[in-house]
Amino acid sequence: MKGVLYYFSGTGNTKWVADKFESIFKDHNIDLKLINVEDKEKVKSECLKKNDFIIVGSPVHTGFLPKIVCNFLDDVKFQNRNTKAIVYSTQGGKSSPIPLFMGKCLKKKGYKIVAQSSIEMPNNYYFSIGRKPDKHSIEKLLASAEKKTKYIVENFINNNVIIESKSEMKVLFGKILFNIFKKSMPKLSKNISSTEQCNKCGMCLINCPQNNITFENGHAVFHSKCILCMRCIHICPVNAITYKNEKIIQTQKYIIDSLKLKK
Ligand SMILES: Cc1cc2nc3c(=O)[nH]c(=O)nc-3n(C[C@H](O)[C@H](O)[C@H](O)COP(=O)(O)O)c2cc1C
Repeated sequence: MKGVLYYFSGTGNTKWVADKFESIFKDHNIDLKLINVEDKEKVKSECLKKNDFIIVGSPVHTGFLPKIVCNFLDDVKFQNRNTKAIVYSTQGGKSSPIPLFMGKCLKKKGYKIVAQSSIEMPNNYYFSIGRKPDKHSIEKLLASAEKKTKYIVENFINNNVIIESKSEMKVLFGKILFNIFKKSMPKLSKNISSTEQCNKCGMCLINCPQNNITFENGHAVFHSKCILCMRCIHICPVNAITYKNEKIIQTQKYIIDSLKLKK
């Protein structure tokens, strides 16, 4: 049996969970290939191949999915009636209705949804909304996220269906909230800027999923295609990227390695 896991991860949480899926499946002698949906060529060629199951993972952004994941769900191809699908979100809150929406998208394409789950992870946007995760809470969240991932895999292997019940109304509410957020994205992205400490290493520029950053007159400039994934803020090696001119504590430090950033 072999499967493929498609993910988007701004700051490492969703990829961290994807890595857990890969290693837990490996313990059961099942191959799972991980594909970042930012890599459109890889997505295109993988979609043509036969897999026994697929997994889609995404962070929650203002009650909904980042555009990059919506585009992927629109483009993903039908395989065959027996292809099973697991969908999961990671979010700063306890749970999210977003996997219900992801499941519906894949169901329309003919996939058989066998798990729909939201996994609580550290909040990477705490400087705008929610609480800043401390070291202890991060450790606790990672331990329970790993446990939940194991639970999903074991049930999948035993042919049990795991659907966390969520209301359609909450999905609709998230969609409305996200549409408001989408319109204010260009304005909100103006909250991001770099300080004198920037050493022009180019990490933010080459790793931005939107190719939205350039260097002009010796400064990193953030343009209007930003999706506010927060990657640039959390990956800067000298922590020179601020939000509303505030220095940010890079709480994703121990998780971000999972992204295997370009250097
Ligand atoms: C712009 C933005 C909006 C967010 N909105 C929510 C939200 O509505 N609910 C929530 O629980 N977490 C929210 N979060 C937190 C992220 O969903 C969470 O930290 C996620 O695990 C990040 O995953 P990643 O590291 O793979 O990008 C938001 C994060 C960002 C950057």
